[in-house]
Amino acid sequence: MALWGGRFEAGVAERTQEFGASLPVDRHLYREDIAGSKAHARMIAVQGIISQDDCDQICAGLDEIEREIEEGSFTFDIRDEDIHMAIESELTRRIGDAGKRLHTGRSRNDQVATDTRLAAKRLCRDMMTAVTGLREALISAADAHPAAILPGYTHLQHAQPVLLSHHLLAYAWMLHRDFHRLHEAYAAADASPLGAAALAGTSYPLDRWMSAHALGFSAVIPNSLDAVSDRDFLLDLQYAGSVCAMHLSRLAEEIVLWSSSEFGFVTLSDAFSTGSSIMPQKKNPDFAELIRGKTGRVYGNLVQMLVTMKGLPLAYNKDLQEDKEGMLDTADTLTRSLEVMAGMVSTATFNEDVMLKACGTGYLAATDIADYLAKRGMPFREAHAVVGHLVLTCEHRGCDLADLTLEDFKEASDLFGADIVGALDIPSIVAARMTEGGTAPEAVEQQAKLVRSTLIEEEAILKGM
Ligand code: ARG
Repeated sequence: MALWGGRFEAGVAERTQEFGASLPVDRHLYREDIAGSKAHARMIAVQGIISQDDCDQICAGLDEIEREIEEGSFTFDIRDEDIHMAIESELTRRIGDAGKRLHTGRSRNDQVATDTRLAAKRLCRDMMTAVTGLREALISAADAHPAAILPGYTHLQHAQPVLLSHHLLAYAWMLHRDFHRLHEAYAAADASPLGAAALAGTSYPLDRWMSAHALGFSAVIPNSLDAVSDRDFLLDLQYAGSVCAMHLSRLAEEIVLWSSSEFGFVTLSDAFSTGSSIMPQKKNPDFAELIRGKTGRVYGNLVQMLVTMKGLPLAYNKDLQEDKEGMLDTADTLTRSLEVMAGMVSTATFNEDVMLKACGTGYLAATDIADYLAKRGMPFREAHAVVGHLVLTCEHRGCDLADLTLEDFKEASDLFGADIVGALDIPSIVAARMTEGGTAPEAVEQQAKLVRSTLIEEEAILKGM
């Protein structure tokens, strides 16, 4: 029901009322709205602005409404524009005058900013938890396959052999950065707008820090105009979410490729695959594709929010009502995508033999043969050309570098000796890449130690949130 009856002679037309409503979206923020109202009521009671008795009635009434919404027995009146009005008008119906006093020294502009910030914090925490879950799945898969080797690619062409664990941990690092980006978004949301009182502050003696602390905010927003109109924290959330969705889509794409007949590196469990309604043989990586596809809507939410904010004059404008749907959608999409991906990774079978066999084609040893010559005194550029020529010979013969004879090598350069065989052995090639961050088993073990320490750090951060 409209809360501004005094100034108006007629109600809003039904179609426009419906058009202007945000209740279908912000009803999901009822917990935050009720918590915000209770914190405000308690603070204005302590400040002597309303009586303790009014405050008690307000809090009891709000608890009852919360319980009913929780149970599903609360009926929302669709004529209420938003969750703030829905709850306040129902409270007033139930407790009368005390309900009417709740809105002293505050505005829906403060309320919506408060609710959205509280929700953003909760959703960041959910996404961060899901990020850590997927990181755990990736790290376990890496631990379970310490010796598996597959071709490493550049331009999706065979480049050099790498450990599977090395490849999987690359994603664990991407997600580590996502965790911190989401944590930054959480920190950006972590300040209270309450007390802005629409835009300019108020003549009531509010204690902004009291309501802020009651709601778990670490600070109050120093400028009342900024307090009601800032949505940077949502942009931070949307950007962090978009980068994370991008990482997920890259992993999803590799799963789609790797589970194809052409690659065959991975077999997805039945629980994470679907069949075809017509082709009985099909086992499709639908869920990986869907995760890849959902990236589009997450990017869409980021762009929508950027465009909504562009050119908005201070302070609150109704345009801002468009902010919550994308926040809820990004958080829900991302949390579920991360959870599904974690399940998919932890139940997948990595086909080590197929991976190793794939290392037999594509001249993965070429760089190491060039290094062999360079280490024996040939300038690297020259060595590169010699090996390029050997690759061409292989192309003509239809064989791999390992199929060449010692005579072939000697013909190309007299620096080649019998020990060239060592440079062709795939596990030795991997083992030689000992640089920090390289793919040798010891280097990857060092890296895995670091990754595991970031997991512990993340769990501690989550516990403290
Ligand atoms: N429903 C609005 C929103 O979601 C909150 C109320 C804003 N205040 C106003 N005067 N229209 O942004």
